[in-house]
Amino acid sequence: MKNSAKKRGSSSQLPQHEYVLDPSHDFAKVHEFSSCAPDELQAWIEKNPNQISEELLAHGVVIFRSTPFRTAAEFKSVIGSVFGDMESFQNYKGGLTSRARDKEEGVFLTTMVPPEAGINQHHEMSYLRRFPGKICFFCETPAEYGGSTPICDARRLIKTLDKKIVQSFQQRGVMYIRNYESVPGFDPKIFISWQNSFETDSKEKAEAYCRDHGMRTEWVSDKHLRVMNRRPALHRHPKTGDLIFFNHVNLANTYSSDKQTLSPAVRAWLPNISPELKEHFLKTSAEHQPMVIAYGDGTPVESSVLEEIAGAYGEIAVSFKWNRGDFMLIDNFLATHGRDPYVGKRKILVMLLEPTTVTADS
Ligand SMILES: [Fe+2]
Repeated sequence: MKNSAKKRGSSSQLPQHEYVLDPSHDFAKVHEFSSCAPDELQAWIEKNPNQISEELLAHGVVIFRSTPFRTAAEFKSVIGSVFGDMESFQNYKGGLTSRARDKEEGVFLTTMVPPEAGINQHHEMSYLRRFPGKICFFCETPAEYGGSTPICDARRLIKTLDKKIVQSFQQRGVMYIRNYESVPGFDPKIFISWQNSFETDSKEKAEAYCRDHGMRTEWVSDKHLRVMNRRPALHRHPKTGDLIFFNHVNLANTYSSDKQTLSPAVRAWLPNISPELKEHFLKTSAEHQPMVIAYGDGTPVESSVLEEIAGAYGEIAVSFKWNRGDFMLIDNFLATHGRDPYVGKRKILVMLLEPTTVTADS
């Protein structure tokens, strides 16, 4: 973790150190607290919601480090103090992977993607028409080993990427094609069923949900549902106007045009991939791949482009290692997040806030 020189906080009487995680790019503001009581910190947060919101716009990510908070109820209370009565996402329908909820407080746990798999950088739910404008993480239990959250400055990413790649996606948009079918060897926590994804056993309800959210459905067979939606690849931040490379190309694409190599997403998700599964991903046509992210006209993205995008994120990623009680507030436009593989009973809670709907389809 890169730290700038620490300084004593000046915005309140509360003892804290303020610094920026990546000072050379002014990315990710940290408030590190030491030896403060929960009610003291809660009071400080309640006094400073505007400052925190401004920091989020300026730095993309705001982290409360080493807080005395420990429970899901405290997590909800703190987030409520910062963002007021913002509606929390009530569901994760159409989501890519399995996601459980804390039984008492209703907040989500982070994805159930197995610990040995890494998760590439992404903007949360950017493949959907409706996505969270902000996401908040809270560390209830850190991993025994690994499990850091790498984050990237989206305003820097778009400048790091090859301009031709950005222009190409801007002009063509992206097409997300998901094939929900049962394939032997696929981990159902990564490649979930349509019933799990749309939280229903009713084909009619799943179809209606897709229709209402701008996704086309096609039953290839009784057990194979294909869902397609075309989205813009770039969005402007609703407040700052920054142009953001806002899509899921780097995370979920299991297919590349030349089929010579596994896509970066498959390599990250399935580090110990069996020979049979490797064969499947390399040999199976796009019609049977779990997630194909193509250009908007349906043309698969070249592997060289996927590699270039993954490389750009890797170049600018800043890693954050969790301690118990840490909070991370993310502007879902201004920053991407990922996850390192880990060992242990890591428990990170998440709230998806500020439902944002972009109706214009590219
Ligand atoms: Fe995520």
